[in-house]
Amino acid sequence: MTSGGDSPGMNAAIRAVARASSYYRVECLGFMRGFQGMIENDYIELNARSVRNIINLGGTILKSARSKEFLTEEGRVKAAANLKKANIDAMILIGGDGTFRGGKVFSEEHNIPVIGVPGTIDNDIFGTHYTIGYDTALNTVIDAVDKIRDTASSHNRLFFVEVMGRDAGFIALNSGIGAGAEEILIPEEDLGLDRLLNSLERSRRSGKTSSIVIVSEGDKIGKNVFELAAYVKDNLPYYDAKVTVLGHIQRGGSPTCFDRVLASRLCVKAVELALDGQQDIMVGMMNNEIKSIELVNALKSKPTINKELLRISDILSV
Ligand code: F6P
Repeated sequence: MTSGGDSPGMNAAIRAVARASSYYRVECLGFMRGFQGMIENDYIELNARSVRNIINLGGTILKSARSKEFLTEEGRVKAAANLKKANIDAMILIGGDGTFRGGKVFSEEHNIPVIGVPGTIDNDIFGTHYTIGYDTALNTVIDAVDKIRDTASSHNRLFFVEVMGRDAGFIALNSGIGAGAEEILIPEEDLGLDRLLNSLERSRRSGKTSSIVIVSEGDKIGKNVFELAAYVKDNLPYYDAKVTVLGHIQRGGSPTCFDRVLASRLCVKAVELALDGQQDIMVGMMNNEIKSIELVNALKSKPTINKELLRISDILSV
């Protein structure tokens, strides 16, 4: 099943689970709308042919949801009864940390092995250097910011562009460098309002006529992106500041080759580990190798951002 916020590459992941299952001659069912489909016994049979022509599609053919009912013990009892009726021996859960947390509790309560596959645009899962969908989201962001740059430069404007990532700054940091942003504001590093004003002031004096600031939605500078733009306008009145919130377009679109290959590698491994009798683990890619980590450990920590990238951004926005 796919669960939580969808991410580009989830279909490539579903395809890989179904095809690897077929290759190893085991039956594969796809539960709809994440944990909610388990509670409602809503599933489809997946085989090698039923997943044709989906590797290139964004979204998820199994649909996704954040099930409130699954948070209750009653909901989980219903789900377990349905899985037992369907003779499920192991579950492959494609999603983020909320999905894994739910899967872990479920497996502990009902003794059904869980293998997690990290699928979220946020890239905020410990135990993998990349999550499925992150690379596509980065490319969507830089494509959008490139377009904003055109109009920013035509009108000599300053743009604040808010990107997703929940509490993590991976999307902002990497897309900010890729799109050549002036400043990048992320939750992991409070750069402070004064520093932002100084930097914008310095840019103007150095001859820049337009600027782009990438703001992570979880940034803790103390103001949301609209308040931030208003604050800058108040303090630096010569700036014509505009705001663009990229929002859910970051979750859509055809997955990049990187995300398709990542999803394929992770999910073949997930099926192999399930067949090997492994349980309560997550597969991830570290240094281009597919590894597994105990779910409990994946949930214990958060990956850290590479601060070197902030330094690079500083140097390049001179
Ligand atoms: O976790 C993926 C994500 O897109 C986050 O970046 C964002 O904060 C959140 O989901 C938005 O969730 P929803 O689609 O429920 O508004």
